[in-house]
Amino acid sequence: MEMYSNNMQGWSFFFYLCMCGAICESLHYSVPEEKKTGSLVANVLRDLKVDVKGLSARRARLVSEGTKPYFQLDPHSGDVILQDRIDREALCGQKDPCFLLSELVLENPLRVHRMEVEIEDVNDNSPQFFKKEFLFEIPEQTPINTRFPLESAEDSDRGENAVQNYTLSPNDHFRLNEQSHNDGTKFAELVLEKQLDHEKETRLFLILSAVDGGIPKRTGTAQIIIEVLDSNDNVPHFDKSEYKVKLMENSQPGSPVAQMEATDRDFGSNAEITYSFSQVPDNIQRIFNLNKYTGELTVAENIDYEINQNYAINIKATDGGGLSAYCKVIVEVEDRNDNAPEVTLTSLTSPLPEDSPPDTVVALFRVTDRDSGDNGRTACTTEANLPFVLKSSGNNYYQLVTQQPLDRERASEYNITITATDRGSPRLSSSRIFNIQISDINDNAPVFEKSLYDMQLWENNIPGLLIGLVHAKDPDMAQNARVTYSLLPGKVSGQPVSSYVSINSETGNLYAIRSLDYEQIKNFQVSVRAVDSGSPPLSSEVKVQVVIVDENDNAPFILYPLQNGTSPSNDLVPRGAEAGYLVTKVVAVDRDSGQNSWLSYELLKATEPGLFSVGAQNGEVKTMRPINQRDAFRQKLIIGVRDNGHPPQSTSATLSILLVDGFSDPYMKMVDIPKDEVAVEEDRSLTLYLVICLAAISFIFLVSVTVFIAITIQKRRKFMDMSTLNFPGGPNFQENCGDTCAGTLSRAYNYEVCLAGGSLSSEFKFLRPLFPVFSVEPAQNQGNSRISSASQDVPSHQEENQLINQVTL
Ligand SMILES: *[C@@H]1O[C@H](CO)[C@@H](O)[C@H](O)[C@H]1NC(C)=O
Ligand SMILES: *[C@@H]1O[C@H](CO)[C@@H](O)[C@H](O)[C@H]1NC(C)=O
Ligand SMILES: *[C@@H]1O[C@H](CO)[C@@H](O)[C@H](O)[C@H]1NC(C)=O
Repeated sequence: MEMYSNNMQGWSFFFYLCMCGAICESLHYSVPEEKKTGSLVANVLRDLKVDVKGLSARRARLVSEGTKPYFQLDPHSGDVILQDRIDREALCGQKDPCFLLSELVLENPLRVHRMEVEIEDVNDNSPQFFKKEFLFEIPEQTPINTRFPLESAEDSDRGENAVQNYTLSPNDHFRLNEQSHNDGTKFAELVLEKQLDHEKETRLFLILSAVDGGIPKRTGTAQIIIEVLDSNDNVPHFDKSEYKVKLMENSQPGSPVAQMEATDRDFGSNAEITYSFSQVPDNIQRIFNLNKYTGELTVAENIDYEINQNYAINIKATDGGGLSAYCKVIVEVEDRNDNAPEVTLTSLTSPLPEDSPPDTVVALFRVTDRDSGDNGRTACTTEANLPFVLKSSGNNYYQLVTQQPLDRERASEYNITITATDRGSPRLSSSRIFNIQISDINDNAPVFEKSLYDMQLWENNIPGLLIGLVHAKDPDMAQNARVTYSLLPGKVSGQPVSSYVSINSETGNLYAIRSLDYEQIKNFQVSVRAVDSGSPPLSSEVKVQVVIVDENDNAPFILYPLQNGTSPSNDLVPRGAEAGYLVTKVVAVDRDSGQNSWLSYELLKATEPGLFSVGAQNGEVKTMRPINQRDAFRQKLIIGVRDNGHPPQSTSATLSILLVDGFSDPYMKMVDIPKDEVAVEEDRSLTLYLVICLAAISFIFLVSVTVFIAITIQKRRKFMDMSTLNFPGGPNFQENCGDTCAGTLSRAYNYEVCLAGGSLSSEFKFLRPLFPVFSVEPAQNQGNSRISSASQDVPSHQEENQLINQVTL
């Protein structure tokens, strides 16, 4: 089936014929595109109903319409031959069907046949995508079944040869869904079938293929790049859900506790983790510091085991997207020995009586240590050498008990140091001082400072004079040491002691009650008792020896020559006596003693001065020179005798001496006898004088006694008459005064009431202190007498006697 090519003239001719309506019989042929040049398209002989001769005779020819002549008619065979390759797509584009029109012209008769050659499509084009690559950015959390339309592929071919199917390279996440546009063209869309995960695949590479329906099929591919966008789909993750750490107590602020590590598989800000406390009480948050970014837990404040032994801290890790994970940090605090033991006193017995028996509980206390374990195990000690000992009574309680007898007088208080030590390392200890006072018990009697007191008292003292004092010490305390003194009853030369001395019960001062005379009593002894005020009282006694000291109260008394006579005796001295002749000796005595009785003699006055001398010591009167004739017969000497007291007392003696020439018998005797015999003679005469003296004194004494008795009897009668009159306010000697108060000074004054004779009214004639010189001595009468209003009808006989005595005094 070849066609003739024609030219412009042919076409115009053809149109002319057509208008004439001569011909217009059309022929239809088809040929696939892309056939080789020279290929047969069709044979027109049969359709034209002409033979080969006729054909060539009638000058058959092909005239292409306008376009480039693709066909050629072979007039010898009637074949239409392809003159050039035909590309349907270039010729017609998307026009369908695609025809190439030609005129087959025959002459003689002119006949024109229309020839339509349909160009059949051949699958010579592959589907083609607009771009080689398609990029999709899909968040990983895009829901399943989300659709992503894809661009269609283009295929120039038509019909079956156009794109029929799309395929997708095998993958886990997407399938392809084909859809048709309204115009029937197909397109595909990606349908998400399985969740994307950025953490697994950040990018997917898919091959999209478009397949046409030709035979063989042609495909076009494009790459689909799916960028999986991260979304915060991952929760941070701690490497451990629980961190267990041990932390030393008192760790320095800043020391690390734990390092938390949380990871997040997301990216970017979704993986930025910050750490924070989660529901942690404020007080714990203060103690620990959490680094927000690093997750490091450090110590912020002092960690005290005693406050808390462990902490459970919830920590939250949050990523930038707000997702959180939690973990728990368990901090176990380890004890350190940072607390010293404490001594807590429960009870203390102070003051403690000194007579407490051994094992008396003095103090009860408890030792505590806030640490634990060995750090909290305590031991307790106290000083050695104490009368106290520690006893443990379990449960950290201790008792301090007495171990030995106590003596307040040795130690009146104790400061007991209790030291408690723990077993930690280093050891800590603390101590506490218990002050224990020992209270007094009257266990000491008063003790006098001396075992014997010697006191002196000058005679002729005034009554009430302080003799001296005794003092007893009592080592006890307060009442137990308050000492009072008293005199023990006793007698001094037959009279009660209390009539001689009294004692101040408080001060121990001893007072003489009466004036004493050395010449009557030289010493006496009293016993003093000291009693403390304890209960029961304790006492001790001491002897006081009172020595009366002599005073020079007596003048020398001259025994020879006698001084009372009207005519003193004369001593004879022969005129021929040599110098140094012993004339006589003045004899004097002094009733005082000691120095007061040391006598010295001196010549005060002499008729013939220079003739006689007196021995200062012995009172011997001697001649100083030989006697001459001019010396008077009668010589008178006044000799002074002086004692050695202060002040001295003296007397004088008058001595008469006769100077004789010859010796008459009596004188001779005296002269002849040797000196010794003279002395004996003198002694004899002295003895004689003494005897005479004594007799005279005795006589005077007797007389005076008699007179005294007579007067006494006289007065007694008078008194009896008065006392029977029963006057009130009479002296009451039965005053209730026991032994104990006898002799104390405050009560030592006795008073005597003398009533005016005959007057019965209470009128005092005089009232004077009286220091009694009792001759009778019932103890109860030694006490004071005082003016008493108690009526005493008749004084006892003894009282009468006393009264009499007093009155006579
Ligand atoms: C291609 O598409 C046709 C109809 O559109 C269908 O019948 C055929 O099964 C498809 N081929 C493949 C491989 O999907
Ligand atoms: C005991 O302690 C007290 C108070 O510190 C002190 O006054 C006293 O002298 C102490 N006594 C002894 C016996 O150390
Ligand atoms: C003088 O005293 C002595 C002795 O005392 C006595 O014997 C004598 O009689 C007295 N003489 C006179 C005159 O009193």
